[in-house]
Amino acid sequence: MNCLTDKEISDLLTFLSFDSVSTKPEKRSRCVDCAKWVRDYLQQSGLSAELRDTGGLPAVVARNQHKAELPTVLVYGHYDVQPEEPIEQWESPPFTPVVKNGVVYARGATDNKGQIFAHMLGWRRYFSNVSAPVNVIFLIEGEEEIGSPNLAPFLEKNREEFLCDVVVISDTAMLDDNTPTFTYGLRGICALEITLQGPDRDLHSGIFGGAVLNPLIALSKMLSALHDDSGRVAIPGFYDGVRTVETWERESWSQLPVTEDRIREITGVPALWGESGYSVLERIWARPTAEVNGMWGGYTGVGTKTIIPATAHAKLSFRLVPDQNPDLLFSAVEDFLYRLCPPACRLQILRGQCGRPYYLDPRSSLGKVAVSALREAAGTRSPEPVLICEGGSVPIVADFERVLGAKTLLFGLALPDSRVHSPNENFRLSLLDYGTRLHRSILQLLGEVLPATPQLARSHPK
Ligand code: BES
Ligand code: MN
Repeated sequence: MNCLTDKEISDLLTFLSFDSVSTKPEKRSRCVDCAKWVRDYLQQSGLSAELRDTGGLPAVVARNQHKAELPTVLVYGHYDVQPEEPIEQWESPPFTPVVKNGVVYARGATDNKGQIFAHMLGWRRYFSNVSAPVNVIFLIEGEEEIGSPNLAPFLEKNREEFLCDVVVISDTAMLDDNTPTFTYGLRGICALEITLQGPDRDLHSGIFGGAVLNPLIALSKMLSALHDDSGRVAIPGFYDGVRTVETWERESWSQLPVTEDRIREITGVPALWGESGYSVLERIWARPTAEVNGMWGGYTGVGTKTIIPATAHAKLSFRLVPDQNPDLLFSAVEDFLYRLCPPACRLQILRGQCGRPYYLDPRSSLGKVAVSALREAAGTRSPEPVLICEGGSVPIVADFERVLGAKTLLFGLALPDSRVHSPNENFRLSLLDYGTRLHRSILQLLGEVLPATPQLARSHPK
């Protein structure tokens, strides 16, 4: 059951029909078209809206008439989406949104168009014709799925314009479609690519085999040293700064209906794995990890090709938790790999995406405002809001804190079966309705609470 008008639904479907895939350079004009559609939508909701050049794909920035006595809330989201591939696994075309049983299917339906549209529609429904309780800034960017390379520099350059008391984002998950959920922690990320160079060309493995080290074998040995037998990451210094899970968190997480069996079912693995001494939620939410995202090299075509390959490659990424420092982590990883690299190979490491972890004490005054807003939006017949962390990363959140001095409230609307980044991505329309109410409640409450206690939100003076 939901209370959306045909027009509201058709606006969402229009938004979803843009193939705004930021990873594909040939989709640039589609991304710009999508940004213009967002700008026009916000403009028609009484905001002054414009496209801003960030150096990459444009960001949409929109604001109401700001008043000095009101607190300022920045609502962030992204209009770009992940690539749609593998296309043959979609039951309906990814950019021809269809609604089935109250669920809309399309690439970007949840990540992040449906979620940011909930705020856009929330504004249009509840604030476009009244005197708003806060100054609002919508910042909807087009490069989140490629790691927001231009957004932090853009914010630094235009800091004054984006100064705000608090940031609101819906780009994370809910426990289930009935449980109002507040996310108070995110993992960070450090990604890198390594190349191990052996001989200066592929060699005949009969003529030289036994005298020349195979870089693929050397690489697998190095990567298998990343973890010890208890599932702990074996890099010296890796766990420096890791915040210990507090007793209240351990207790509250153990009450959540996320069981090991459920995660095994969702993932399709025969058995779970992980660092010993920690529950499955602690492993995902509160412990840092090391992953190999891909490795390649040598001959992988049909039949046999007897070579010692010249190079071996791997992409690694590390998830960080508060209060680990990505710069120190990068160095610890690099030292570890250089030390393990045998003299018979040369190692090259290229640093990639990087984002700090994030934490907001949910028992703080600001955390309590967030929970009240969730309770109000969900209504009295819903369960009490739950407090969760997230294993995934939204790197810009830490930049909002660093550059603008503002904390972020994370009100995700993704469900365990939303299939973000996968074929048949979908978004439940009842959550769009709920999201608009959440937008209303949080702006209303922040408008009431912040003027009296602006220090609640801000870590630096404006
Ligand atoms: N919105 C996601 C992160 C997410 C998804 C959090 C579902 C919680 C539930 C975001 O778009 C994303 O995928 N982030 C990347 C960051 C990377 C590209 C720097 C991630 O976490 O891998
Ligand atoms: Mn996202």
